[in-house]
Amino acid sequence: MLNVINYRSFSKLISFFPPELLHYFFLQTLKLNFFQKKKKYENLYTKVLGKDFDNPIGLAAGFDKNAEVINGSFNLSFGFVEVGTVTPMPQKGNPKPRVFKIPEFEAIIQRLGFNNSGIEVFLNNLKKIKKNEREILGVNIGKNKNSKDPVSDYKFLYNLVQPYADFVTINISSPNTPGLRDLQKKDKLEKILTTLSKLKKKKTFIKLSPDLSDEELEDICKLSIHSKIVDGLILTNTTISRNNLQSKPVRDFWKISEEGGLSGPPLKELSNKIIKKTYKLTKGKIILIGVGGISNGRDAFEKISCGCSLLQLYTSLVYKGPNVVVNILSELSGLLKKKGIRKVEDLVGKNINL
Ligand SMILES: Cc1cc2nc3c(=O)[nH]c(=O)nc-3n(C[C@H](O)[C@H](O)[C@H](O)COP(=O)(O)O)c2cc1C
Repeated sequence: MLNVINYRSFSKLISFFPPELLHYFFLQTLKLNFFQKKKKYENLYTKVLGKDFDNPIGLAAGFDKNAEVINGSFNLSFGFVEVGTVTPMPQKGNPKPRVFKIPEFEAIIQRLGFNNSGIEVFLNNLKKIKKNEREILGVNIGKNKNSKDPVSDYKFLYNLVQPYADFVTINISSPNTPGLRDLQKKDKLEKILTTLSKLKKKKTFIKLSPDLSDEELEDICKLSIHSKIVDGLILTNTTISRNNLQSKPVRDFWKISEEGGLSGPPLKELSNKIIKKTYKLTKGKIILIGVGGISNGRDAFEKISCGCSLLQLYTSLVYKGPNVVVNILSELSGLLKKKGIRKVEDLVGKNINL
């Protein structure tokens, strides 16, 4: 139904609803499974870490925190889906309001704080899923806000989710859980990686913040390359910076100073900058998944060209609606042909300008 309605007019019409309520409705719609997978593009098929992906565009973590709409998400034509962040115990997250839309920039500022139903509900949902081999599923894990021992939270979750996941993401970069991003520091990260590496059965990624210093990034790259556990890095989570929200006036300007992580187009340049640096530091020894401000085929082309083998998005799904994935796939496929690039893998890290 939403396919035929102009999504922009529709979303303007319902914009007076709080963002979290709209998200709830979106999830319920996906549960009804009335979206159908669209056309596949031969030049977008890619093999990464031995797995076959119909296309490189994935759903980013945070959209389906409790693994409730996995099949519905695949029906939007995503090449892979990441669910979570899940924590060991259920938690409510921060007090509402905690999600703020900045329509002038098609951006979101949010401080949800890992609101989720906990690992028990999450696993029950995962157990019900039937998916085919080409539907690659990632599970994103995080610590509880009040946890006294983050390493044991990650160990507990890593063990439990691996049987149901194609890959696991260790999330140490959300800005809305106090102290979480400190786990990106060399000593703390080393401890997590050493503990988890003994338990590894599935491909494993670390998700990073775009606000890391050059030195911190260098340490993480070195650790990741030499660890026995890290197959790749997901770059990036949301930013606490507001520098890219200054270029035009915003009607509800108070929203900009709300605490939380910023996502969408104003995050793109920052995320691309860190992706380029990371690709240079890792020299293709580990896989990079790029996320942050992807809204169209050009954004996708650009990020792959910076060094990403796979991509993810979230905020553009909110602003552009369920057709955003098929539109990106069609544009990206066309851009590859226009540039004489036979398949998407051949673009990774080539720094080709559009
Ligand atoms: C409402 C919202 C909730 C999010 N929750 C999570 C989360 O639970 N775990 C996580 O790793 N990232 C989370 N993210 C970050 C996204 O996965 C992604 O890294 C970020 O939004 C940048 O991509 P985008 O510009 O395409 O949205 C969330 C983002 C948004 C907008």
